[in-house]
Amino acid sequence: MSDVDPEVGEKRRKNHQSHGTKKRCQGKNSMNGEHKESILEKRKELPVYKARSEILFECRRHATLILVGETGSGKTTQVPQFLFDAGYAKHGMIAVTQPRRVAATSVARRVADEFGCRVGEEVGYTVRFEDSTSHSTKIKFMTDGMLLRELMLDGELRRYSTIVLDEAHERSLNTELLLALVKRLQKSRQESSFPLKVVIMSATLEAEAYSRFFLDCKIVKVPGRMYPVEVLYTPEPQPDFLDAAVVTCLQIHLEEPRGDVLCFLCGQDQIEDAAKVLQERSRALPPSCDKLMPCPLYAALPPSEQMHAFAPAPEGTRKIILATNIAESSITIDSIKYVVDNGLVKARIYDPKHDMESLHEELQNACIPISKAQAKQRAGRAGRVSSGKAYRLYTEAQFEELSAAAVPEIKRCRLSSMVLQLFVMGIDNLMEFEFMDTPPILLLTKALEQLFLLQALDKNKTLTDLGRKMAMLPLEPPYAKLLLSSSKFSCSEEILTIVAMLSVDSIFFNPAGKREEAARARHLISSADGDHMTYLKVYDGWLKSKKDREWCHQYFINSRNMKKVEDIRNQLQGYCKQGKIPLVSCEQELTAVARCLCTAFYSNTATIAPDGKSYRMEVTAQEVYLHPSSVLFGRRARSVVFDELVLTSKLYMRHCTVIDVGWLAELVPLLYKTAGKS
Ligand code: CDP
Ligand code: MG
Repeated sequence: MSDVDPEVGEKRRKNHQSHGTKKRCQGKNSMNGEHKESILEKRKELPVYKARSEILFECRRHATLILVGETGSGKTTQVPQFLFDAGYAKHGMIAVTQPRRVAATSVARRVADEFGCRVGEEVGYTVRFEDSTSHSTKIKFMTDGMLLRELMLDGELRRYSTIVLDEAHERSLNTELLLALVKRLQKSRQESSFPLKVVIMSATLEAEAYSRFFLDCKIVKVPGRMYPVEVLYTPEPQPDFLDAAVVTCLQIHLEEPRGDVLCFLCGQDQIEDAAKVLQERSRALPPSCDKLMPCPLYAALPPSEQMHAFAPAPEGTRKIILATNIAESSITIDSIKYVVDNGLVKARIYDPKHDMESLHEELQNACIPISKAQAKQRAGRAGRVSSGKAYRLYTEAQFEELSAAAVPEIKRCRLSSMVLQLFVMGIDNLMEFEFMDTPPILLLTKALEQLFLLQALDKNKTLTDLGRKMAMLPLEPPYAKLLLSSSKFSCSEEILTIVAMLSVDSIFFNPAGKREEAARARHLISSADGDHMTYLKVYDGWLKSKKDREWCHQYFINSRNMKKVEDIRNQLQGYCKQGKIPLVSCEQELTAVARCLCTAFYSNTATIAPDGKSYRMEVTAQEVYLHPSSVLFGRRARSVVFDELVLTSKLYMRHCTVIDVGWLAELVPLLYKTAGKS
């Protein structure tokens, strides 16, 4: 494979572009010459562009390359194009993985624009529930989960010549697994005539540890171009982060010179609340003041709306980008001069002892404190184009208490999905599998136990047919089992709806100041059988209303999320067809749905205690409570099945449905056998 010098690469691109001129001019993405020139000028300014020769030189000499560079230095957008220009896509695609779908889709759009094609042509993306690639795709952005899925189908990944693992510092479970699998694959392909090139990229990475794992491979560090960022702390701990964030954004707007604001918040609800408040307050600003434009940015936001955060603000307007952790390192918005950091990140914490994955709600909307490294990374976002300021909504003493770096997910998450994927790839000796960071034994044992109880593994720890099918669905094992069992209970149509509903953030609005009104409206559409059945009623009602926004408004239902539900449902239906799961409806016989829920969430079943308030879990006898958001709250249901535990002052069950506890022995005999043994 020959290297090309940058200019030749540019010529090749120009040649390439001239072939497609006609098509591009007709396309949405057609670029005028001026736009193209300005993009090229910008590209050439990027630190990574300047290191192009070195990167390609080292890439040619080594099977694996580690590339470290500040966020915004051009790794994600430029390196795949360098590799393309150097001919790496001649004999297979270049895959670029991202831990987040927003990053994968937004970066694909940007690179397609730079490349001069429409998304889905030479540059495309694949994320869960969405595929925008074609036979002409050469650079494919994808979530790491999607590459893992492909690995299960084609263990050799022969469609790819090069794999770029981006954002490796995030240490997501999927990235961790990919690092290990790609290393193995590289070894096996090395011996064939089709070697695999691997590039690992990251903003802040203990590059040496990665290099050691990849047999002391080469590290290229691109010097950053950062301006100084002044860090400011609050004098006192903040009781309400959302309020503090809004106040700080307004204060910046009123007192600080021009420049956009990036404000970190936890999740869609907080972001929408903050956007609303900012919008309202901006109306009260004096006419002499610049305009203020809140721009939400979170994973579930439709791409057309995400674009507002990326597009330059109109003259005389300051953008306030309200983002989840996705803005920490995976996407870059150049105009940011001020960062507001709430010091929190949304995370699920799995407790293997109680076998529960909980959202710590009392810690501000399911968020846990970030690490010092993350705080530094967030502050850095203010110093991309000029000096900036970072407002930390916590005290300096609180900062000092943060851990140095985040704990990798492999040490704190439920591993059943990962273990199942490994089994499908024929890796069943987990103790000998070479991870970069070894997962705790307890987590592995729990994963094996869960897979056994879901009948994905048999008693000899061999993968079952059911397990193989479960792994093929883009769902956590219990949800996959739920869907796979549904046709046996003749309720696959209903379960499809339920799973799709559970895949989005809440479909109900609960606006501050209108809580009672919302609760009354919700009551009108709720089912006495529980939350899952309520979801069925809502979906049905929505379809009957012809997806009417007014109808959604009346019942405090988020119509955007409903559309998303429909979309996910369609995708899942596609998977069902592929997996030959018959689509059948139980019509009004909803007992079938409740029974089906029990087979997948057998361990999440509980019966009311004599006090008439608390519940005891069937398997662990743990004391739990109905979540106040459940439609069963206050209805004294005898026994319930639920799909999530939330830990606040108490352990709350979320998404609950009434069951007959007598079904369990019949539906999950294994559970009783194991419980009996221990
Ligand atoms: O990956 P890394 O953080 O090193 O940088 P990048 O994502 O490749 O971004 C490089 C530059 O491309 C940014 O500084 C932005 O100027 C631009 N960019 C953009 O305008 N729109 C995007 N969606 C992504 C990047
Ligand atoms: Mg990047």
